[in-house]
Amino acid sequence: MSSQPKLKLLFNREEIGATVSRLADEISQDYRSQHPLLIGVLKGSFVFMADLIRLLDFPLEVEFIRLSSYGRGRESSGKVKVVQGLRSPVKGRDVLIIEDIVDTGLTTVFLLDYLRRKKPASLKLCSLTDKPSRRQIPVTIDYLGFTVPNKFIVGYGIDWDEKFRYLPDIGYVEVED
Ligand code: PRP
Repeated sequence: MSSQPKLKLLFNREEIGATVSRLADEISQDYRSQHPLLIGVLKGSFVFMADLIRLLDFPLEVEFIRLSSYGRGRESSGKVKVVQGLRSPVKGRDVLIIEDIVDTGLTTVFLLDYLRRKKPASLKLCSLTDKPSRRQIPVTIDYLGFTVPNKFIVGYGIDWDEKFRYLPDIGYVEVED
């Protein structure tokens, strides 16, 4: 028999909105006069990025990079690849990475190293969620939304095997036989 995923709510859209607003305030305080380059990590960050930048009322630029470590499975392969690179120069820019989740940390550490070699003026990380229980390598998150439990987190851009990105709330998947 095939197992049916059940969805459990973690953060509803109002809680997400309040948290994105809080992050926007924190980022505004630090970057208002910096003309930063925000780099969203596809695909998971696209919903968060879209909401976040509309709360930032100062000049900034938006870029995306597509990285892959999970393929279509649910477990990280541990090998991070650049699937789609940047078009904007990073040298001398104040760069803020926008992530949806830091899990093992392998993707973030790869990206920080990849960007550092391009010599930005500064480099920081904003992640909507953090799953510290799964960390394999230390990561400093400069702007953090929510800490989440060791579950398959979905919604608000985050997928489970490419499913559930469209959900407006954040939840987790429980697989039952
Ligand atoms: C997710 C997420 C992060 C990464 C974090 O991306 O968006 O980039 O995993 O995992 P890690 O800390 O264990 O490296 P994923 O590879 O699932 O691609 P997606 O954003 O297209 O869903």
